[in-house]
Amino acid sequence: MRPNWRIIRSLLPYLLEFRGRVALAVVCLVLAKVANVLVPVALKFLVDTLEERGEEVMLLVPLALVVGYGLLRFGATLFGELRDAVFARVAERAMRRASLEVFQHLHRLQLSFHLSRQTGALARDIERGTNGMSFLLRFMLFNIVPTVLEIAMVAVILFVAFSPGFVVTVIAAVVVYIAFSVVVTEWRTRFVREANTMDNRSNTRAVDSLLNYETVKYFNNEAYEAHRYDRDLEAWESARMKNRLSLAALNSGQALIIAGAITVMMAMAAIQVTSGDMSMGDLVMVNAYMIQLFMPLNVLGFVYREIRQALVDIERMFGLLGEEAGVQDHPDARRLDPDGGAVRFHHVDFSYQPDRPILRDVSFDIPAGAKVAVVGPSGAGKSTIARLLFRFYDVDAGAVTVNGQDVRDVTQDSLREAIGVVPQDTVLFNDTIRYNIAYGRPEASDDEVLQAARLADLDDFIARLPEGLETRVGERGLKVSGGEKQRIAIARVLLKDPPILVLDEATSSLDSASEQAILHALNTVARQRTTLAIAHRLSTVMDADRIVVLDQGRVVEQGEHGELLADDGVYAALWRQQQAVAGVDGVDGEDPA
Ligand SMILES: Nc1ncnc2c1ncn2[C@@H]1O[C@H](COP(=O)(O)OP(=O)(O)O)[C@@H](O)[C@H]1O
Ligand SMILES: [Mg+2]
Repeated sequence: MRPNWRIIRSLLPYLLEFRGRVALAVVCLVLAKVANVLVPVALKFLVDTLEERGEEVMLLVPLALVVGYGLLRFGATLFGELRDAVFARVAERAMRRASLEVFQHLHRLQLSFHLSRQTGALARDIERGTNGMSFLLRFMLFNIVPTVLEIAMVAVILFVAFSPGFVVTVIAAVVVYIAFSVVVTEWRTRFVREANTMDNRSNTRAVDSLLNYETVKYFNNEAYEAHRYDRDLEAWESARMKNRLSLAALNSGQALIIAGAITVMMAMAAIQVTSGDMSMGDLVMVNAYMIQLFMPLNVLGFVYREIRQALVDIERMFGLLGEEAGVQDHPDARRLDPDGGAVRFHHVDFSYQPDRPILRDVSFDIPAGAKVAVVGPSGAGKSTIARLLFRFYDVDAGAVTVNGQDVRDVTQDSLREAIGVVPQDTVLFNDTIRYNIAYGRPEASDDEVLQAARLADLDDFIARLPEGLETRVGERGLKVSGGEKQRIAIARVLLKDPPILVLDEATSSLDSASEQAILHALNTVARQRTTLAIAHRLSTVMDADRIVVLDQGRVVEQGEHGELLADDGVYAALWRQQQAVAGVDGVDGEDPA
């Protein structure tokens, strides 16, 4: 249990935010428990008063006791509810804070974390973690503490009023009960974990399968998917079964301990009533206490289980927070001063995994305002160059600079403000076209959004849609075509209006006609900007000030289109090849990979 104190401590700041409320809740808690413990006392005096019928009893006394009894019962519940009401805000706020913290952290994490992580499982970890937090806060403070308080008060009363046997029995029962619960719950925890893992796995599988709905249909693989899903469900079922069975064992054991203790206490009370050492009222009181203790003790078992579970869930969630962000701002990072946005790659080496170099000694310059193209076969490392400029990853050797400043020495915010990227694969938010375009600058006016749409050659498309800009694009933008998606991506970069433009095969999903239209638009915008254009189709970048030819992570040639053709090297060969294909198909080259 030790490392879990760390978790409990880490929750403290959330509590301290609402000192006043927490204090008020604690006062309510104590009042509720005092009222609760006094109920059996009132009952005892009532029974004893009624029993002394030998003398003249005034009706007033028992009536007063009955009223008092009723008030105490009501008070116990009322203060309990008040306590929960007062505390609710504290728990909900803590959940909100933690969810936000984890969410922000997830956005700070390296791209590779997200590429290897499954979103369905991630979302569930967060959900379970925050629920666990709320549970822990509420039950730790408002079930464990009050139950302990109640047991202590009852023990004191029993000690003062009766022979020591009663206190000893109660304390022994509580100790055995807690020990039993802890040991058995520890044993059960692995079943709970297993069930969680299986739950995550089947859920991830279902989400992934549904996201790939189209692919499943293309290959007629519904039965295969169902079979795989069912195999996970089967494992989940058996983990849940073990979970249930072990829970039944725990509950039965707990009930046995409680029943044993009650039997012993009642036997002692019966004997003492017979011998005249205890009154009828005393027996009723002992019985009432036992029933009253029975309930919170039962809850104690449940709460211990749930807290154990909550700690597991919170641990997972905070485990995400422990995940290191790969790229971090230097402690004294300054804001980037992009000026004209001159970009320089200086002897850059890079690999995603240590044993597989992707870029080797890559050097080239993009003077401010110039357009440089990077071309080469698929897998050569072109997109990787764009990612390094954007600082999704840090280089292994060499440096990437913008206007003379190493990208590692400036804040990520300021660097990314200065660069607009039209990525190779655009994924859209499941919202309207307007939302997705305006994402480039959320505060942009409607006119600016329309203007950007026009520049990206989207206006005809939008005009043909019954709902225009308000058309929803579906999950990941699946309801618009590849070319439309790319034009939306272009429009939102135009709206962002950065000094540096990165076009990663920005027109690859377009047919030749719309490509020409957009290239014209892009060239107009690119004119005042430093542009890195990544292309597979050479015809789209022949006008670049410089063309860098990349092959297997190395720069094999660079120069202007004319020079490179004259050199008759890799570029010239690629060019001839694509021209030939274009001649046959009437299109500019094949689709890029
Ligand atoms: N996140 C990643 N982890 C490991 N390898 C990667 C990752 N991203 C890309 N690669 C590999 O790096 C190489 C270059 O990728 P990329 O720069 O995307 O090529 P392209 O020139 O087609 O844009 C490819 O062989 C690819 O498999
Ligand atoms: Mg690429």
